[in-house]
Amino acid sequence: MSGAPSDNAERAEGWTSLRPRHVAIVMDGNGRWARARGGLRADGHRAGVGPVRVVIQECVRRGIGALTLFAFSSENWGRPRDEVMGLMSLFVESLEAEIPELHAQGVRLRFIGERVDLDARLRASMASSEQTTAANERLALQVALSYGGRSDILAAARRLALQVERHQLCAEQIDEPTFAAALALGGLPDPDLFIRTGGEQRISNFLLWNLAYTELYFTERLWPDFDAAAFEQALRHFAVRQRRFGLTGEQIQAGRASGEALGSPSGDGAPEDERRDVDPAGG
Ligand code: FPP
Repeated sequence: MSGAPSDNAERAEGWTSLRPRHVAIVMDGNGRWARARGGLRADGHRAGVGPVRVVIQECVRRGIGALTLFAFSSENWGRPRDEVMGLMSLFVESLEAEIPELHAQGVRLRFIGERVDLDARLRASMASSEQTTAANERLALQVALSYGGRSDILAAARRLALQVERHQLCAEQIDEPTFAAALALGGLPDPDLFIRTGGEQRISNFLLWNLAYTELYFTERLWPDFDAAAFEQALRHFAVRQRRFGLTGEQIQAGRASGEALGSPSGDGAPEDERRDVDPAGG
């Protein structure tokens, strides 16, 4: 991907000084969007596929390395049966339709959540799309399906407890990086930016551990109306925030001046300044 002219214009404006490495999104408002048009909730979910495509393309174009989308929570199983069935069919259909394009764009797709809850056809599509895209490196795309943040933490705790039981690990060795690695997003940096559409201001059991220091952005816009301009607006809000990770503003400024690494407390990677104007094309 070569730098599009708009990338250069954005840089000249200076607002891309801080680009998130990882964006997490709660895609809310499909039902209200459909109802407002006299349609069924299912129409809203179907209309929600377009913005998913747009956000993926925007992440690829802008050199954002990771994107995690909350498509179906463990609590969503309680919705009316026809809505749940409709969503499951939509996931299979979208996966089968979109994989060639995602693969061509260099997207590595993975799913997080309780796979055993999902039907066999969907699980087969998930496994095959993960396999097809496994070697791609441009964008790590995680889709959360039947996912809950508390279950994710519990599963990690169980996994580590089992290792202790088998004498593969000492309890004292369980520190934050070890615990984080046992979670569903293990190996990825924590999200820098969390976006929720649809006007509600809550996390709803998404990525509870990983969002500890994430910048939160809420918009009234309903998910089917979320477009490239709305995504850019969220990125602009992110770009002007000062991330302090529990330190003072003065410490952060002083660290920047001296080039000292002031990363997140989870030790997830590069100091913020290293993320300036990242160009995946190396330009
Ligand atoms: C929440 O809106 C949305 C969902 C539970 C489903 C999200 C699914 C999509 C965006 C479809 C496409 C996704 C993929 C990964 C292909 P809501 O129904 O709770 O809206 P409401 O709050 O207005 O009722």
